[in-house]
Amino acid sequence: MATLLDDHRALLVDLLDGLGSPLHVVLPEVFEENVAALRQAFAETGAEVDILFAKKANKADCFVRSAAVLGVGIDAASTAELVKALAGGVPGHRIGISGPEKDDTLHALAVQHDCLVAIDSISELRRLAATARLARRQVRVLLRARTESQPTSRFGMAAAERDAAVDMCLELTEHVSFRGFSFHLNGYSPEERAAAANEMIEHCLDARRRGAHAAELVDIGGGLPMRYVDPGLWDEFVQQNEPGHYHPAKTSKGLYFYPYGGLSPTQAARMIMSHPVDGDESLSAKAARHRIRFIVEPGRSLLDQAGFTMYRVQQVDDRRDTDGYAIVTVTGNSLNLCEQWFNTDYLPDPLLLSAQSVADEMFPASVAGSTCLENDMVTWRKIGFPRPVRPGDQLVYLNTAGYHSDFLESRFHDTALPLKAVLRLGDAAPRWRLDGI
Ligand SMILES: Cc1ncc(COP(=O)(O)O)c(C=O)c1O
Repeated sequence: MATLLDDHRALLVDLLDGLGSPLHVVLPEVFEENVAALRQAFAETGAEVDILFAKKANKADCFVRSAAVLGVGIDAASTAELVKALAGGVPGHRIGISGPEKDDTLHALAVQHDCLVAIDSISELRRLAATARLARRQVRVLLRARTESQPTSRFGMAAAERDAAVDMCLELTEHVSFRGFSFHLNGYSPEERAAAANEMIEHCLDARRRGAHAAELVDIGGGLPMRYVDPGLWDEFVQQNEPGHYHPAKTSKGLYFYPYGGLSPTQAARMIMSHPVDGDESLSAKAARHRIRFIVEPGRSLLDQAGFTMYRVQQVDDRRDTDGYAIVTVTGNSLNLCEQWFNTDYLPDPLLLSAQSVADEMFPASVAGSTCLENDMVTWRKIGFPRPVRPGDQLVYLNTAGYHSDFLESRFHDTALPLKAVLRLGDAAPRWRLDGI
């Protein structure tokens, strides 16, 4: 990313001019480096871990293709995601199917392609077994269990249903191959994830005692945190943050923020696996002792710095004399930077592409989308731009590939969805193409 900004600004401007605003640029090489780093971090803990990239975090085909080449699996949560994973070259046996109460179409495709299906309830298990029977096949399943720390989650089975589901799997062995447990956790605590994984190991051991000898997999889900900014800067921000820093309508509703300056994915991976679960024994050591293998489904964290979003500035409403800041309107809308859904704000500052790094005159401005909605703010916070922003300028929002670019994208006002340019730096000049081609 730094190389692109330092050495290839003209290319970025050309791409935005040619392909329209906003434009998402995706960087599969960075994704590939992230996979290698995460694999290494898990390997160092001694745990056996299969990585499934959670496809929901970005719709670009290029990441699936990279996963296929690297032998990484895919976590798919809809028929369309499964089809794209298969079309991108990922074999069905490396694809996990998650999501609550999946429909029969998704079940049927998963059965045909030997995917590993995480089951959310007895009724779903019954439907999936019927689908497998019709297809005269056996389907591999995980049972999604509720965790002790989040017992009221709407996902997964509580103890009685979980036990009944294990019994049902044992009765249906001709069509159902029960392989272990998965769980859903809100939040990013490595300790809580390790504790939940330990509960799943215990569930596997219990299932083995009851005759389910192939119970050997624990799927710890996604939720590896990502570090967008230096933790010191983040702490400083949190201490100084106040309503006056935002365009007014936002703060009247309160704000929630992603932990932008928390752990890195590899730190979290190490912390989860080395967390003591039984006395001094680490999670990875306990798993190895019981021949348990892990599955992890990272989405956001594998996309760390694997993409960015550019907007062209359409209009600048300079209200510095009256309100103390300007409103910069860009071509595009806030749904191209999806944080707004969570009543929050994407906090990393956008870069003004043509500005020098040293500020000669601080220009405070919030960034608005070009729709007719008062709430369509791309950045509510007043950014300190290093010079006055002008129509025709380019803003670059860094690190947007993980959910921020296409989670909520909308064709509001009949506008086209933003394009995605796949860019590889390689060893020579950068090369780009449109995603999906
Ligand atoms: C079942 C499942 N797996 C994986 C993920 C990916 O999580 P993250 O992008 O935080 O790694 C999610 C997120 O919603 C999920 O629900």
